[in-house]
Amino acid sequence: MSKELSNEENQEPNQAICNTSDLNENGAREFELDGQSIIIINWLGNWHAYVNNCPHANWPLNIQPDVFFDSENQFLQCSNHMALFDIETGECKAGPCVGDRLTKVALEVKNSQIFAVLPPVKDLQS
Ligand code: FES
Repeated sequence: MSKELSNEENQEPNQAICNTSDLNENGAREFELDGQSIIIINWLGNWHAYVNNCPHANWPLNIQPDVFFDSENQFLQCSNHMALFDIETGECKAGPCVGDRLTKVALEVKNSQIFAVLPPVKDLQS
């Protein structure tokens, strides 16, 4: 499936996605950016975002809405085949795609609003 995105030139986080108050501390939620599901994470005082696409089989990580952490809240977990991903780097640490990474989404927080931009189309899984 090809994605029709036109963000090749502008890599500045310029689309308001949500407010910081929309996420709990050490929480994660799913949002949509240019038709793509992304995960925004508020983790240990820092913000992270990834395309919601597991590198193992190109499926969304979650099956249930906004459920992204493992049972011990140490990793992002893919609900399909239980791959575990480092929250801060997106690197798969256990499961069927060890060493692969989630695709990072650039974020900026301004005045309690979170802005994001997708990576270039070539970096997105298809
Ligand atoms: S689709 Fe994520 S571990 Fe298989």
